[in-house]
Amino acid sequence: MKVLILNGPNLNLLGKREPEVYGAESFDDYLKFLRAKLPHITIEYYQSNVEGELINRLHQANDEEYQAIILNAGAYTHTSVALGDAVAGISIPVVEVHISNVMDREEFRHVSYISKHAVGVISGFGLLGYELGMHYLSIR
Ligand code: DQA
Repeated sequence: MKVLILNGPNLNLLGKREPEVYGAESFDDYLKFLRAKLPHITIEYYQSNVEGELINRLHQANDEEYQAIILNAGAYTHTSVALGDAVAGISIPVVEVHISNVMDREEFRHVSYISKHAVGVISGFGLLGYELGMHYLSIR
């Protein structure tokens, strides 16, 4: 199985950014752990702070052999009709992940333009959410 993890804005700062909300581990370190733990899954990773680049990567992924995408669109989750349309427009299943529990935060984070087009949403389990997404994808 080949899965793309797609992270949106500010997630390059994981480990340094609001560690009380997002934890103290960098995504690079977590990715090393995840790849070592799940050697049977080819995990590719892309992060961008630019909305259009995330959309382009989703389109590109649709022409590649990914079985699924795990998407944490960061704040674009709550603002980007275009990103939601991109998820709706591709045929690869998308699992929406959030590190924090967005429902326990500010009201503007309760809206997602992604969820309607995702196979499911994992939120509030820290970085473990990415692994839970992989687990779902392996057994579904
Ligand atoms: C986030 C939640 C978003 O509301 C926030 O803007 C992020 C990260 C999360 O993983 O908890 O950047 O997607």
